[in-house]
Amino acid sequence: MPSIGEEIGSAVVTSALPYANGEIHLGHVASTYLPADIFTRYSRLNGRKIYHISASDDFGTPVLINAEREKKTPGDYVAFWNKRDYEDFKNLGISFDAFCRTSSKENCEFVQYVFKRLFKNGHIYDQNVIQFYCQFDNKFLPDRYVLGKCPYCGAEDQYSDLCERCGRVPDEILDPRCGICGNKPIKKQSKHYFFNLSSFSNRLKTWLNTNSNLQPDVKNYVINWINDGLRDWDITRDLSWGIPVPLPEAKGKVFYGWFDNHLCYISTMISYLQQSGIDGKAFWNSSEIYHFIGKDIVYHHYLLLPAMRMGLDTEYKLPDYIPTRGHLLLHNQKLSKSRNRYIGLRDFTTTFVPDYLRFYLSSITPYSQTDINFDWDVFSEKINNELIANIGNFINRALSFTHKTFSGMVPDPAEYNSDDNFSLSEIGAIAREVGCLLSQLEIDKSLKRILRFSGHFNQYFQIKQPWAHRQTANTTLFIAVNAVRSIAIMLEPFIPFSCEKIWCQLGMTDSIHQQSWSSVSEIRIPAGHLLGKVEPIFTKIDREVIGQHKEVLGMHNG
Ligand code: 2FM
Ligand code: ZN
Repeated sequence: MPSIGEEIGSAVVTSALPYANGEIHLGHVASTYLPADIFTRYSRLNGRKIYHISASDDFGTPVLINAEREKKTPGDYVAFWNKRDYEDFKNLGISFDAFCRTSSKENCEFVQYVFKRLFKNGHIYDQNVIQFYCQFDNKFLPDRYVLGKCPYCGAEDQYSDLCERCGRVPDEILDPRCGICGNKPIKKQSKHYFFNLSSFSNRLKTWLNTNSNLQPDVKNYVINWINDGLRDWDITRDLSWGIPVPLPEAKGKVFYGWFDNHLCYISTMISYLQQSGIDGKAFWNSSEIYHFIGKDIVYHHYLLLPAMRMGLDTEYKLPDYIPTRGHLLLHNQKLSKSRNRYIGLRDFTTTFVPDYLRFYLSSITPYSQTDINFDWDVFSEKINNELIANIGNFINRALSFTHKTFSGMVPDPAEYNSDDNFSLSEIGAIAREVGCLLSQLEIDKSLKRILRFSGHFNQYFQIKQPWAHRQTANTTLFIAVNAVRSIAIMLEPFIPFSCEKIWCQLGMTDSIHQQSWSSVSEIRIPAGHLLGKVEPIFTKIDREVIGQHKEVLGMHNG
């Protein structure tokens, strides 16, 4: 794990691909996109060559069904969501280097290439399977196209590939009906292609056991799955929407979405680098690979994805890190769109400053699979009492006081007393401390450490009372203004928009996003430097607004 000042190699960061099938909600942001963005922003400041990429996941039966429902072509339907999701991420400050799509030409070609190589290497075989078929629609009915009763728990109206009540995958759904016309389907034979996942069991186990970067608890249950026996994967579907299987005898067949989607990590990285004349494969293989995911897709990332790369004779390096985080609950209950227990990202960022969401989620996001809880009251407390009363207050006091007393010009320090020296040593140590935590993907802990740093400087200001002690005020303000600079750079990965404002108020003319992390611990603002215009950066959240949001959830404000 590289830390500050060490020689740091390049890295590829991927965020799990969102389905092009509905809006991004806070659950996605908390588990995946925000942690990945914070880590990438930190690494960029730390001088690392790093790219953060993602793409829309365009295939799969839910996409097709919804496109049909909206009377759109699947292509138009996914193009809409690709654009919309990207805009939403951008508004939240998620700084992707590339956001592509699984249906891109580059990905389709790459997926077909991978299939052919796996086929040649003997990792793919075909087998006849009996499948549901609708005689009215003249279609095979894979996955979500069949509804029925769950054979395990008896829940009605479940999809044939997943019971949403008990979470199991039915072997055969009861009372099946066609998801398009509602008629009872018949069974018909079809040839399918299977990826030989089970034959990778031993190699997967060795890889899991030897990769010490992976979270031990996740690794343990994945190894248990292997010990229970892995099943080979049916990687094809009889559908029109998908990447065609490149074999003459497989006409009309396309790949299952989970065969192609994770390959888009690689194809996106390669085509992005190609634009600048860089050999993407060489870059991939000489970089550290991070796949950020939520815990619901552990199986795919810890088993299927590495096995497929092994099947290619590791032409593309396996993941070094798979940071896996838990679900986001809303007032301690599961998110549910249909029951209105759900917060869309766009709704949120049109009501509140995006940085408030980033700050709040960062403060509750551990590096573990534990579920985290979104609570409107805690949200407003964190913003009002931590971001504003601690960080905002110190920044505003230090800068406005310099304006008032020294006409915005940073004064010359005189002698340092023990409080000054202690504060300088805090500045001297903080870059390494927070940097280590961020390198270890500890989002909440690093933010807590920054809050402690800012809390210290609030106290320092209080103790030194520059308004009452004119003879030491210049030293106090010199140190305080430099501490503001350290805070601005350290918070850039967490609240980038607000840090741009702080940077401006500090009178800086370059970009906050291009500072160096190690300089957080340096005194870089010299005496005589002129500050910019100073005003409060944050606005408190009104209790009434929080009350309205709780009403929407059917809660009463109290
Ligand atoms: O579960 C999901 O939302 C999938 N769309 C994630 C895909 S990540 C992949 F590409 F590996
Ligand atoms: Zn039908």
